[in-house]
Amino acid sequence: MEAIEMKQLNFKGESVSELGIGTWNIGEGDARQSSQEITAIQYGLEHGINFIDTAEMYGEGKSETLVGQAIQPYDRDKLFITSKFYPFHATPSLMRASLTKSLQRLKIDYLDLYLLHWRGNTPLVETVQGMYELQAEGLIKHWGVSNFDTSDLQELIELPHGKDVFANEDLYNLRSRGIEFDLLPWQAENNIPFIGYSPFGSGNGKGIDSPELRQIAQERQVSVQAILLAWVTRHHDVLSIPKASQVEHVTANIAATEIKLTAEELARLDQDFPAPIGKQALDVI
Ligand SMILES: NC(=O)c1ccc[n+]([C@@H]2O[C@H](COP(=O)([O-])OP(=O)(O)OC[C@H]3O[C@@H](n4cnc5c(N)ncnc54)[C@H](OP(=O)(O)O)[C@@H]3O)[C@@H](O)[C@H]2O)c1
Repeated sequence: MEAIEMKQLNFKGESVSELGIGTWNIGEGDARQSSQEITAIQYGLEHGINFIDTAEMYGEGKSETLVGQAIQPYDRDKLFITSKFYPFHATPSLMRASLTKSLQRLKIDYLDLYLLHWRGNTPLVETVQGMYELQAEGLIKHWGVSNFDTSDLQELIELPHGKDVFANEDLYNLRSRGIEFDLLPWQAENNIPFIGYSPFGSGNGKGIDSPELRQIAQERQVSVQAILLAWVTRHHDVLSIPKASQVEHVTANIAATEIKLTAEELARLDQDFPAPIGKQALDVI
């Protein structure tokens, strides 16, 4: 493969690659599978990706453990490692305990970004206070949220330290694009970077399908997944975090960031997957 210059996004002064590494469902197979997953992650890291997304939920720590193994050969400070805690660990003391375990599994002494995985019953004010304290101690560089809609973020930024929120991570792909109506513009206006998960609709991407999508992929002689990824990253302001446990998939995903969809192709995709014309309920997986 020709060397591809991975685009970097400026996330509030931090340089992050336009593609990140999703890690849901990794680290749960046998030794052969784990070795393949490590190879895929390392291939991404050696080809311009610096962002890794994991969570205490993924395999109840198995994903973090595998990421910890995969990143061993690299300069930790050049990586941007994100993890998440469960909403039922969202009090200051429980999130601290979760973080301690995540750092042990990842074999690192700080996270670049720590996210509330989704909103639960703990008052947000307590959660923000807890993250603020972990940040002040240098255990996390930044904190953020996931699966938040516009109204949740509006509430968040009014809280003490709430404006320090670094990013929000939500579902974003060609089929789930309701956030284009209000959330994405609002985050841009408020300088809150956006991380889009499940660019292929999770699983193997077979769930996102349409005649135009298939036709465009065929015309360009690439996979449907390449078109889906080129679409998510079309404005170069969304960080997309596909999960790929095969090197061939990582290679294809990196190459897909070079595809520039034309206005005509985008219009054809809009026909099958219309842009939102009003507020839609937040889509989550
Ligand atoms: N914050 C949240 O609540 C939340 C929710 C869901 C996901 N996430 C994050 O987002 C990441 C990505 O989402 P996801 O794992 O749900 O699904 P996804 O990235 O949309 O899809 C992953 C699937 O696509 C396959 N794939 C990857 N590249 C491919 C290619 N070039 N051609 C064909 N197939 C390809 C993978 O296969 P192989 O593995 O076999 O390569 C895997 O089966 C997660 O891993 C996780 O880190 C966050």
